[in-house]
Amino acid sequence: TRGGLADRWGRVASDLRISLLDKCNLRCQYCMPAEGLDWLPRASLMSAEEIFRIADVGVRLLGVEEVRFTGGEPLVRADLVDIISRIHRAHPNLPISMTTNGIGLEKKVGALKEAGLSRINVSLDTICPQTFAELTRRDKLAEVLTGVDAAAAAGVHPIKINAVLMPGINDSQGGELLAWALAGNYQLRFIEQMPLDADHRWTREGTITAGEIREKLLADVDLAPFEKPRGSSPAQLWNVYPKGTFTDTQAALEGSETTDAPALGQVGIIASVTEPFCAACTRTRITADGKIRSCLFSLTETDFLSALRAGITDEEFAQIWRDAMWGKPKAHGKDSAGFESADFQQPARSMSAIGG
Ligand code: GTP
Ligand code: 5AD
Ligand code: SF4
Repeated sequence: TRGGLADRWGRVASDLRISLLDKCNLRCQYCMPAEGLDWLPRASLMSAEEIFRIADVGVRLLGVEEVRFTGGEPLVRADLVDIISRIHRAHPNLPISMTTNGIGLEKKVGALKEAGLSRINVSLDTICPQTFAELTRRDKLAEVLTGVDAAAAAGVHPIKINAVLMPGINDSQGGELLAWALAGNYQLRFIEQMPLDADHRWTREGTITAGEIREKLLADVDLAPFEKPRGSSPAQLWNVYPKGTFTDTQAALEGSETTDAPALGQVGIIASVTEPFCAACTRTRITADGKIRSCLFSLTETDFLSALRAGITDEEFAQIWRDAMWGKPKAHGKDSAGFESADFQQPARSMSAIGG
């Protein structure tokens, strides 16, 4: 069978997320343990050449419309600029994006943009140096902030900021982070924490929910629904207004009170836990060691790198990929279960080895 990356639930994947390596220079509590993980051996990581071939086959044979590089931390890979420029030269109209923690971005963003990087998402949960050091276990906030500044100065747009709120750590700082993002014209998205931490400490009760996030933000600003359809993006967007723009903040939130006043900007909420968006998923993932993951929460992966190294054709590779995606679970690793269900099983790999 020829065609795109369809699954048996009627979805077609067109967003390719490639994890470039599992290493990272931070140790975010919701992702990695303090001591790090057993990194993948170098020989099992995909080469720049192999990564090019994956993206190229994805675009030419499988309907891939966008490539995002993730990690670990993609900037840690020395050949990142080469990887991007090769893909960009072969497919100049393909949007290429990256999800990064921003460390080292200041030095590299010019070359990355030149190479063909379209846009970036930066993980940043706080603008307080002490909180940053506690949450990421590294005292590196200043480097991240100069990286974001440098990206904006280089003309990277949009810049999205990803923030996970953790109870008792940064959950009282949402308003401060939003004010910073609005001032810099960055699109902030708050993400509900998912059970993908290496320490397996996630609990439903410890998850700051979308509803709680909205409530916290309403202390400082008014929010109203952003009208544009969200498509397959995980983030639900809200227009942000100065507090007091609406007479009834709840009515504004529900969209029944509207205003002609201009919004200050938007804020997104990625509610994977309380409002899963699996039905609209358009993603296919490749791990740094060359395995297809049909879902963030898949319990199985499909190896193709050994076959690729043994010399299969592009069409044979494409067929392995189609077959892997056909088995994509309907939702969260199972065909129905939410994270709270007794049926839910956390995948063996943690977020840093999947790429988010
Ligand atoms: P945009 O195209 O810029 O919207 O990218 P993105 O939000 O898809 O990518 P990013 O890497 O910034 O991820 C933001 C958050 O969304 C992370 O916590 C991801 O793990 C989460 N996310 C991305 N794709 C999925 C998905 O398919 N399912 C779930 N549950 N979460 C996802
Ligand atoms: N739950 C939700 N988001 C997470 N991220 C990392 N770990 C988790 C988790 N357990 C986010 C990072 C990064 C993106 C790829 O995923 O903040 O921005
Ligand atoms: Fe590194 Fe991203 Fe994991 Fe933080 S969330 S430890 S920045 S891979």
